[in-house]
Amino acid sequence: MDNSIKPIVKWVGGKRQIISNIKKYIPKKYSTYYEPFVGGGAVLFDIKPQKAVINDVNEELINLYKVVKEKPDELIDTLKKHKNEQEYYYQIRELDRDKEKFDSLSDVERAARIHFLNKTCYNGMFRVNSSGEFNVPFGRYKNPDIVNKKTIKAVSKFLNKSNVKIRNCDFEEAVKGIRKEAFVYFDPPYDPISDSSSFTGYDKSGFDREEQKRLKNLCDKLNKRGVRFLLSNSSTKFIRELYNDYKIEPVMAKRAINSKADKRGEIEEVLVRNYE
Ligand SMILES: C[S@@+](CC[C@H](N)C(=O)[O-])C[C@H]1O[C@@H](n2cnc3c(N)ncnc32)[C@H](O)[C@@H]1O
Repeated sequence: MDNSIKPIVKWVGGKRQIISNIKKYIPKKYSTYYEPFVGGGAVLFDIKPQKAVINDVNEELINLYKVVKEKPDELIDTLKKHKNEQEYYYQIRELDRDKEKFDSLSDVERAARIHFLNKTCYNGMFRVNSSGEFNVPFGRYKNPDIVNKKTIKAVSKFLNKSNVKIRNCDFEEAVKGIRKEAFVYFDPPYDPISDSSSFTGYDKSGFDREEQKRLKNLCDKLNKRGVRFLLSNSSTKFIRELYNDYKIEPVMAKRAINSKADKRGEIEEVLVRNYE
């Protein structure tokens, strides 16, 4: 297998930490792999399924995947024009403040922008403020891999070879038409462990407990139809009670999303599933 296939962007909630645990529970056989909250795609790019449907509500992220799939060479050429300089960084970052200017960018330019920002921003994390604007400061890296040619080429090849369908909608919509033999891995924004660790920077929409319940209802529907699902979340009382009827495995994960250094230790997460 090609080990150049790996996440193209660093994403909040990336699953690389606990991937070996997740893999233990992924069924050996399934028809299509579904990932309705794909984010950076750590699990997708690790297991490299032969057929897949991926989705995320984040438009810029999904546009990037589509461009990587369909126009990798144009993307690489456009990325070569970007520079790891502070003033330039803020010019590119600020593009989403002016709707007219932003709308005039091509899909390739938008994809290059988000990729460039992800490689050069502080901590390398995609984060938007409540108005949906990218608000991470310049990262001051010595030599960031802005062009990332090898990975973009490898990921592009994989997305085409495996005929990966790329959707940009809500998670419920993303599994419409799913067949019984398919398999779904859900990695939603996590239920916050405490109020202070509450992190709602994924998208304008936010993901509260009502959303967690809506996701659980979808899991129930899939379960009734005999579709297998695996779901990650934090190990809060709320989540453990919500998924009471299913198999729940605790896993330990190192997390660094909290800005306070002392809170970067190991925390317990859960893996929920509806099959043996
Ligand atoms: C925990 S992250 C996924 C992390 C990913 N598995 C990884 O390895 O990088 C959750 C993702 O859910 C997306 N999201 C939030 N609300 C959503 C919704 N209603 N439908 C679909 N995706 C949503 C966010 O944009 C974010 O990328």
